[in-house]
Amino acid sequence: MKTVLHVVGARPNFMKVAPIYRAIAERGRLQQILVHTGQHYDVKMSDVFFTDLKLPPPDIHLGAGSGSHAEQTAKVMVELEKVCAGERPDLISVVGDVNSTLAASLVAAKALIPLAHVEAGLRSNDRTMPEEINRIVTDRLADFLLTPSTDADENLRREGVDEARIFFVGNVMIDSLLTFRERAQKLPTLAQMGLLPRRYAVCTMHRPSNVDDPETLYDLLGALGEISRIVPVIFPVHPRTRKFLSAADAPRPLAEFPELRLIDPMGYLEFLSLTSQAGLILTDSGGLQEEATALDVPCLTLRKNTERPVTVTLGTNIIVGTDPGRIVAEATKALSGNGKKGRLPDRWDGRTAARIAEIFERALLGSASISEPDRPRLNGA
Ligand code: UD1
Repeated sequence: MKTVLHVVGARPNFMKVAPIYRAIAERGRLQQILVHTGQHYDVKMSDVFFTDLKLPPPDIHLGAGSGSHAEQTAKVMVELEKVCAGERPDLISVVGDVNSTLAASLVAAKALIPLAHVEAGLRSNDRTMPEEINRIVTDRLADFLLTPSTDADENLRREGVDEARIFFVGNVMIDSLLTFRERAQKLPTLAQMGLLPRRYAVCTMHRPSNVDDPETLYDLLGALGEISRIVPVIFPVHPRTRKFLSAADAPRPLAEFPELRLIDPMGYLEFLSLTSQAGLILTDSGGLQEEATALDVPCLTLRKNTERPVTVTLGTNIIVGTDPGRIVAEATKALSGNGKKGRLPDRWDGRTAARIAEIFERALLGSASISEPDRPRLNGA
């Protein structure tokens, strides 16, 4: 049997790989190997997602851990290269834009193993974001570019990517959301936290540009504090943010805002139970902008730009930047029932993983060899 090797490493990878893994397993025509790079390693950043998403434990763990960008990327590369030499997979599938994605793409390309990138083509056009570098390089190297939205297709065409490599499959993370939403909403999370549906906000924030600089971080916390005077603001704190919060001297005591609730990172289901019933989401995460659109919850993105413009053009997302005045004004508007309304982008329908599985099968089991530059377009479009 031909083998697909999936690489996961960081929290936002798990909800993308889970539906693909399941779809391929259900069809039963390809063998799979799941490799965890170890970029994220805390129970609350990794293990809980395997349980929640019903993803089997990784077959291989590379134990890369934290480090500078070069260290982390290099550690994954060194270990994954050995795995590839031993296993000789027929295809390597990577998702998203984290350092593990980049590292695996470089290994695949140099080992001459066909590479598929799920969530290809997204561009913030902001190279100060490490993820933007990861996206550009991964897309440059990938044989199969599986895109979540048509703006991504256009970005790839503009960069000169051969049309035959582009496959508009939709948003695979939304497959997970649709699979688990009902189950998540049955959890007693809101009751346990003393929250009422739509009468609270959820915040996540971990981008280096927002949290590594104490001044920006405390400006943003001040804005969240003001919002927490209107409704409780639930803020599960990413370890990166926690590190900078503990390192910096708070110019303004957080105790001033008892309803700005800083809590530990949450598992997938528990967090989905919160986001799906929230009145407002504030975030600098890419994935959460998309989830807010799929859940039809107004979203304020605490960044200057987004690589996911469809969440703004069609969805519930507004890019508000980091100006506290603007953030509080937009939040007040949304919480008074005048938040942005949206609709679902095309192919965010829960069927993306099935499309991906089919493309992988046609690539590996069909007659066309993907290394032929003139191979037929496999998505049948
Ligand atoms: C990474 C991704 C980012 C993604 C985010 C989701 C890159 C360049 N960045 O950022 O795109 O949005 O994951 O969470 O790949 N740490 C722990 N425990 C863990 C993991 C990390 O304590 O399980 C701490 C460490 O101090 C580490 C820091 O968080 O140094 C940052 O982790 P890292 O994986 O380097 O980047 P993230 O900020 O998590």
